[in-house]
Amino acid sequence: MSSTWWKEAVVYQIYPKSYYDSNGDGIGDLAGITEKLDYIQSLGTNVIWLCPIFKSPMKDNGYDIADYSVVDTIFGDNSALDTLISEAKKRDIKILLDLVLNHSSNEHPWFKAALADPDSPYADYYIFKHWDKPTPPNNLRTYFDCSVWTRIPNSNRWYFNSFGPEQPDLNWENPQLRKEIIDMINMWIKKGVAGFRIDAIGNLKKSPESLSEHRFEADREDGSASLVPWVLNQPGIDKFLTELADKTFKPANSMTVAEIDVPEKDLLAYVGENGYFSMVFDFSIADLDIRHQKPFTTSPITGESLKPVFIKSQLDTQRIGWGAPYLENHDQPRSLNKFLPKGAINSISAKMLATFLLTQRGTPFIYQGQEIGMTNCSMTLEEHDDLHVFKLIEWGRREGYSDEQMMEYFNLRSRDNSRTPFQWNDKDNGGFTTGKPWLKVNPNYVEINAEQECSDKKSLFSYYQQLIALRRHSDISDILIYGDFIPLDSPSDVIAFKRQHEGKMVNIYCNFSGEEKPLSINEQQIYLHNSPIVNDKEGKIILQPYQAIIMS
Ligand code: NOJ
Ligand code: CA
Repeated sequence: MSSTWWKEAVVYQIYPKSYYDSNGDGIGDLAGITEKLDYIQSLGTNVIWLCPIFKSPMKDNGYDIADYSVVDTIFGDNSALDTLISEAKKRDIKILLDLVLNHSSNEHPWFKAALADPDSPYADYYIFKHWDKPTPPNNLRTYFDCSVWTRIPNSNRWYFNSFGPEQPDLNWENPQLRKEIIDMINMWIKKGVAGFRIDAIGNLKKSPESLSEHRFEADREDGSASLVPWVLNQPGIDKFLTELADKTFKPANSMTVAEIDVPEKDLLAYVGENGYFSMVFDFSIADLDIRHQKPFTTSPITGESLKPVFIKSQLDTQRIGWGAPYLENHDQPRSLNKFLPKGAINSISAKMLATFLLTQRGTPFIYQGQEIGMTNCSMTLEEHDDLHVFKLIEWGRREGYSDEQMMEYFNLRSRDNSRTPFQWNDKDNGGFTTGKPWLKVNPNYVEINAEQECSDKKSLFSYYQQLIALRRHSDISDILIYGDFIPLDSPSDVIAFKRQHEGKMVNIYCNFSGEEKPLSINEQQIYLHNSPIVNDKEGKIILQPYQAIIMS
């Protein structure tokens, strides 16, 4: 196992619109992030992943790019990014940008040129189809629950989109388009970014069927079929990804984390020693509560349901390469609400989840606010500001779901739960802005905020600091970073594993239940725990509700 700087990193993810607003317009910005670098450094994280900051109409909050070379004015300008990069560097923090390569905005000049003139070379930068019927060429449904085909008004021209209609897919078959993308990436590498998070990368290659008039077997009552089997990781994608990696990331030795669920058989190509990427985000844990669910329903996650999925994810990745564990991101609700039953969210259980994340094999990703215990935020339908929510509401109303049912689902599952402004203190708007925040601030900022967390040695924030220090700068760092992952037998709802490196080992026990769980082991050297240790008469440990222990 070769050692590399990014294997030793702990990443902090920032959703720029919601981090810190430096100029009172209600929207977080780059100068705001720069102001908060000392905070990020004090947590111990040493890489920042910035969600998209490029010019965009913000229909999908920057995942709809209208110019890949320019910072959007709501975030500042290119020199604000230079400042952020150089100020971060002074603190030994590296910056990852978010690359959205599967689609652009419909306001990108390429797309506008393609619309204006079907014979323009830019028409081949996208995927158009001539179709003179009133309904779309096929019944595939996007990730955002609408048709993959959007008709250009007053015409028989349609274009393909894997997400919203505002996000036309780019045609990766076109070598000129690929060259533009490669040049753009190299331009950012030259500016000093350490790497990239790469959006929806598994969708670059479309199957011939997906672009045809094929009638796909419906998987929903409305007669639509998910696009996933027809656009994800299709034969031929290897050509695009090899070229992309060889001409950009590999020569620059960039850290890359790709957003894609890779089937086990293909992991080697993606994250093996010579894979396209440093690591990939897998969705098996993050989507466990919705994976096989009907629309607008979730199934609660328990320690028992999580255990096999977690062990498989760790073992599969370990066999081949490196992983990128996470519990939260800007597409997911808050982890406290997802992984803990209602009524069990408290400082102990939050610290248990933190232990679970920071002791896994792979580079851990922490999402802004996770370190202070931010939770989901109830919203009315009108309070939401997310394209996917808007599309789901349209779809749900058409299919007869009630607003109440949708609202209940969104309050558990919408992406806005994690996108609410960061809670800095107990002042107005949680100290995020002096203006009107672009999205509702969670009213619990009065109790849950960074100022409070940073001033309390027993807080969740302090516990994250200790965990990160243990992982990055302690006697057991090499074990926690490079150690093998070995699952341990454990009582129900307890997730237990060993990390082992060059004959040394660390054992981790996480109780995902509110019950005591007797272990058949005596107390060893303990490195960190979230609540007092309790032993039975023979000195064996009785794991307490939601207790986590790291010991030798
Ligand atoms: C995945 C991103 O994380 C998400 O926020 C976005 O909406 C889609 N890809 C489309 O770019
Ligand atoms: Ca601002």
